[in-house]
Amino acid sequence: MELIHTVAWMKQVASEARRNDRVLGLVPTMGALHEGHLSLVRRAQTQCFPVVVSIFVNPKQFGPSEDFKKYPRTLDVDLAALERIGVDYVFAPLPDEMYPPGFRTAVSVEGLGDRLEGRSRPGHFTGVTTVVLKLFEITQPCFAFFGRKDAQQLRIIRQMTRDLDLGAEIVVCPIVREPDGLALSSRNAYLAENDRRAATALYRSLDAVRREVGGGERNPTRLLAALKCVIDAEPGVLLDYAEIVDAETFDRAVSLRNNCYVLIAARVGTTRLIDNALIESEGNPFTVNM
Ligand code: PAJ
Repeated sequence: MELIHTVAWMKQVASEARRNDRVLGLVPTMGALHEGHLSLVRRAQTQCFPVVVSIFVNPKQFGPSEDFKKYPRTLDVDLAALERIGVDYVFAPLPDEMYPPGFRTAVSVEGLGDRLEGRSRPGHFTGVTTVVLKLFEITQPCFAFFGRKDAQQLRIIRQMTRDLDLGAEIVVCPIVREPDGLALSSRNAYLAENDRRAATALYRSLDAVRREVGGGERNPTRLLAALKCVIDAEPGVLLDYAEIVDAETFDRAVSLRNNCYVLIAARVGTTRLIDNALIESEGNPFTVNM
């Protein structure tokens, strides 16, 4: 495994791979790696060589009052995990390397990024698309791997990739969860013991929706009521938003005719967590993927 810190060297490695007709796969991360990240890497390894994992805590996607400073940085442990599973390259640039003094450009996808996560975290998605576009430019991936855990991010990146003819194929990977359902997240490290227990309410609320759908309920308002019932019963969890949206437009769904996401964001203590379930209605019977 080779650790790369500079854009210039990463570009050189990537163009060498292109010249040799290699199928480069990129897995963008902010580090503090867990099994969710590693599942993306393993998926990439099934269809790509070389596999590049980027580790970069991107300052541009954090708001001024967010957790950029305290975001977990565990580079040595991350590198050991990636080495163990046989990753080819790790691209871990310093902020100045990605955003040298005088950097002035931002890339944003119109419409999809101003609601839900975008409304709670103004500027967040512009930070995400700006860094992902740079990572795509630097590594020129044939495939790039993202988790469904961040469903809105995934939708926005897909849109940017299509709109700007970036050429990379976006591969979606399922959500990896703890045995009690909590979606793995680098931010779970912030949870104190009580919060950790309360945090399962996000999964349980999505599971309540799954049960309702299983029982034949198709009305988004009533499905959300079932979700909120679970959240309200957990005093440690403060709902930021819960919505059922069309999986394509991210507009609020009035029916389940098209595939929909059930999206939830909540504060558990001081930690903000997100989760989602995908209701696949295109086909019978309905399936709810957690
Ligand atoms: P980060 O939160 O580190 O996540 C990196 C990738 O791992 C994302 O595609 C995310 O959806 C995926 N992921 C996180 N938790 C997961 C889980 N439990 N199961 C499956 N996949 C999971 O998302 C980002 O970083 C950044 O916004 C980034 C795209 C790297 C741009 O800075």
